[in-house]
Amino acid sequence: MAQNKIAVIRGDGIGGEVIGQGIRVINALEKRHNFRLKYTELPWGSDWYFNTGAMMPHDAIDQLSNYDAIYLGAVGHPDLQDHLTLNGLLLPIRRAFDQYVCLRPSILYPGITSPLNGYKSGDIDLVVIRENTEGEYANAGGFQYLDFSTELAVQTAIFTRHGCERVIKYAFDLAVSRGKQNRVTSITKSNAQGYGMVVWDRAFERIAAEYPNIETESLLIDAACMEFIRSPNSFDVVVGSNLFGDILSDIGGMITGSIGLSPSANIDPERRFPSMFEPVHGSAPDIAGKGISNPIATILSGAMMLKHLGQEQASNEIEAAVLEVLSRKTILTQDLGGMATTIEMGDAIIQALN
Ligand code: NAD
Ligand code: IPM
Ligand code: MN
Repeated sequence: MAQNKIAVIRGDGIGGEVIGQGIRVINALEKRHNFRLKYTELPWGSDWYFNTGAMMPHDAIDQLSNYDAIYLGAVGHPDLQDHLTLNGLLLPIRRAFDQYVCLRPSILYPGITSPLNGYKSGDIDLVVIRENTEGEYANAGGFQYLDFSTELAVQTAIFTRHGCERVIKYAFDLAVSRGKQNRVTSITKSNAQGYGMVVWDRAFERIAAEYPNIETESLLIDAACMEFIRSPNSFDVVVGSNLFGDILSDIGGMITGSIGLSPSANIDPERRFPSMFEPVHGSAPDIAGKGISNPIATILSGAMMLKHLGQEQASNEIEAAVLEVLSRKTILTQDLGGMATTIEMGDAIIQALN
């Protein structure tokens, strides 16, 4: 029997409840597909911070390196500054494990009404590939004269040829393997950011030349935001820097019904380190503790984790069960216009699996 060790970081807010449903759904498939995931709960996050002054232990990265994958809920607490919480947990994990590909699909599922008029199931089927280790999120910068009237900050974006080329190459390979529109869109802002984004554009041109059968397009981020609303069906694979990919993946979530449906995978394609699977959304403090969050983004992130671990069949079954529940339109959480609780949605998906 295939066995894998999974580090579970539920984190903050709705993180715990959505991960709970993700694990239940995976458990429901283990026997049928003869695999077993062995979970270790790591109680890191904002509560850990309140007790210890850090979001996770000093040797957290060492500890995590012993696992085959990380399943993460969300991080962020209204009483703590986000730069402390996110730079104390989520972002260092992505960087330390060189999870340079952040894969974020946006699909308009059956039963879901897009806020955009005239789109029906399947009309939107795009994936944002986000560079996940450098760019605008490089941990480079500093303050001077903090707390004085002269306070200033330097925040440096880092774009390396290597870093850009490898993620862009992944995007092209994905366009080939998807076999859909055979198109890769690069997101840039080299009109204003004439250094880093130029390295990005040059990397895109070099890699594009290796894929003569893939159509390419380069859009400025502002125009890309507009096109995600105006003609989302024109996108297949979209590749962007850390910040641009972050922004576009929230838009991708909303135009396909709810960010509560959007999964994400932080991948080390070379498999040197554990990859991390988490929803696109955050800890949603506005609905935390109410038991009404939509667990589907996390359940689908679990499906991505299973695929990464070689359980493709089980992964496909989860996606099929989610599609079935959504198309029935009877059990829907509030973000989708329904009344179902987080647990009721988990129950419905497990029933659909059976
Ligand atoms: P958010 O994604 O947490 O919430 C945005 C809106 O979407 C809220 O109205 C929320 O209720 C709703 N929403 C999100 N997920 C939902 C779900 N599963 N079901 C139903 N509704 C859902 O974004 P935010 O409010 O900007 O951020 C809240 C906190 O989370 C901040 O501290 C932020 O830094 C953090 N955050 C963390 C991650 C992460 O851990 N990966 C991602 C995004 C934001
Ligand atoms: C995401 C989140 C994070 C990001 C934040 C919380 C740092 O918004 O995963 O999309 O920007 O990467
Ligand atoms: Mn985001």
